[in-house]
Amino acid sequence: MLPTDTGTDINTNINTDSTSNAATIPLIWDSHAHLDDNRFKGDLEEVLGRAQEVGIRRMLNVGHSEVSSRHSMDMAERYDFIYASVGIHPHDAKDCTSATWDKLALWAKHPKVVAWGEIGLDYYRDLSPRDLQKRVFIEQIALANAAGLPIIIHDRDAHGDLVNIVKNHPPTSGGVFHSYSGSWEMAKGLLDQGFYLSFSGPLTYPDSRRAAEVAAQVPGDRFLVETDCPYLPPQPYRGKRNEPAYVHHVVERLAQIRNCSYEEIAELSSANIVRLFHKVQG
Ligand code: NI
Repeated sequence: MLPTDTGTDINTNINTDSTSNAATIPLIWDSHAHLDDNRFKGDLEEVLGRAQEVGIRRMLNVGHSEVSSRHSMDMAERYDFIYASVGIHPHDAKDCTSATWDKLALWAKHPKVVAWGEIGLDYYRDLSPRDLQKRVFIEQIALANAAGLPIIIHDRDAHGDLVNIVKNHPPTSGGVFHSYSGSWEMAKGLLDQGFYLSFSGPLTYPDSRRAAEVAAQVPGDRFLVETDCPYLPPQPYRGKRNEPAYVHHVVERLAQIRNCSYEEIAELSSANIVRLFHKVQG
């Protein structure tokens, strides 16, 4: 199955059944980037150029605060290949007011805002009280449901509470666990609920056994690829700034784990991204 967003402007010969052409670059998405981060201030154009060279066709710039949600939308307006999400990260739960929700609900109507996130729970850094993190997460699931948007979930050391919340407050337009870090056991339950799982740089690390176990078994129509740049660089760039072009390392690793071609992973992940983020235009 070909992704539904294949265009005519770029070579789209990414079907593994077709005769392969050495010059063909399979098209991929970076489904989770933070290009509005200060670390991209000096060389954003070069970063975007390198991404296009390795076949990144689209990127989703993910909001994590009121300011970054606004910046994500600005970037989506400036670049036709960038989409945006809006949402408040659990770190910033303590700074939310009803005015925040009014703004985000309005921005969610923007044609290029295709998801609500990243939202969730972070018990690793605990920058907001846990009860408040939970309340703000639940509030945003309701807002995403009202806006008809899928959610992007951040889960750091909070598996149990997260699973309970999404069971009791299911997102009606679906969602993805970004940079999935749980077990295969937990993944099975989430897949049953219709969630997607997204893989990032840590899948390429030598100690990624748990993520690799999930990546080997997740159904072909349920995984996404992402960088989470400037964070989580793949193995060759550990300790450095991550950027969208490096997502091809994640695609390569998935192909290796699943014993299939790079093209197949590119094709499946792109199709999955377009299916989940249904407001995306081809
Ligand atoms: Ni992120």
